[in-house]
Amino acid sequence: MNGANTPPALPLRLDGRTVFVAGGGSAGPGWSIGRASSVTYARQGARVCVADRDADSARETVRLIEEEGGEAIVLVGDVSDEADVSRLVGEARDAFGPIDALHYNVGIGKVGGPAQTSAADLARVHAVNVGGLLLMTQAVLPGMKERGRGAIVAISSIAAHRYLGYPHLAYGVTKAAVEQFIRLVALEHAPFGIRANTVVPGLIDTPRIATTVASQFSADDLDEARQARARQVPTGRMGTAWEVAYACGFLLSDAASYVTGTELLVDGGITGKFV
Ligand SMILES: NC(=O)c1ccc[n+]([C@@H]2O[C@H](COP(=O)([O-])OP(=O)(O)OC[C@H]3O[C@@H](n4cnc5c(N)ncnc54)[C@H](O)[C@@H]3O)[C@@H](O)[C@H]2O)c1
Repeated sequence: MNGANTPPALPLRLDGRTVFVAGGGSAGPGWSIGRASSVTYARQGARVCVADRDADSARETVRLIEEEGGEAIVLVGDVSDEADVSRLVGEARDAFGPIDALHYNVGIGKVGGPAQTSAADLARVHAVNVGGLLLMTQAVLPGMKERGRGAIVAISSIAAHRYLGYPHLAYGVTKAAVEQFIRLVALEHAPFGIRANTVVPGLIDTPRIATTVASQFSADDLDEARQARARQVPTGRMGTAWEVAYACGFLLSDAASYVTGTELLVDGGITGKFV
């Protein structure tokens, strides 16, 4: 092989880039997917805009980044609100310049099937899981198009593909919509150097599951419920927020330069399992 033509080593760095993480806080103390991803991007060299409606949890993410010598800012607002999105994106640009990459992390749910889900419930979950993704995408795409470069990653869930053993209708339906939304954005914008992909986590051990799992079981059963959740996975354990974050870090980097319009499962094999 001709040395001069050898491609660079796996290009995972994000030096000089600005990444906007919508939902970069955490539902509780510890490592959520948005927090681990924000720290991962900073470790890859990016400046990170940590947006969350929970100011304290966004501040904690930024504190963790700064503690390691990284650069990040706290942005407080609701990413499903048009006025907030325009303000947050303005603050991000004032601090760090053009936004090179978007990570749409926000996702809410409402446990229940059709009998327990009102049209208003579905509309509320849709407004956050899909409406916010639309607003954020609209805010960042024009600049990306102008610069001929950009990357977007959104977080779906295996609930978009499978029944998880309890009814979670609004969540599953809106996560399925996230995947098609991203696919369509990716295909329309591929000629402009913009990539968009979805990461599809399986059963991940984040602070949030304490509340989701707790809603299915009594508080005393929580430990057993977490173990039962782990036993369902072929690997015998839940995934960590970091294992999802690493997939996101890959997709936003140039190492994924030919990856667009697709879904990356990070699920310990559970999607392929029959029983
Ligand atoms: N934990 C899992 O097992 C799992 C599995 C599959 C998919 N997911 C998805 O991964 C993503 C992250 O999950 P997590 O467990 O880290 O969740 P999390 O709830 O800890 O993090 C989401 C963050 O988004 C913020 N947020 C919610 N609505 C917002 C809004 N309208 N505007 C601004 N911020 C808002 C929350 O305050 C929170 O800090 C979600 O989309 C979730 O659906 C999680």
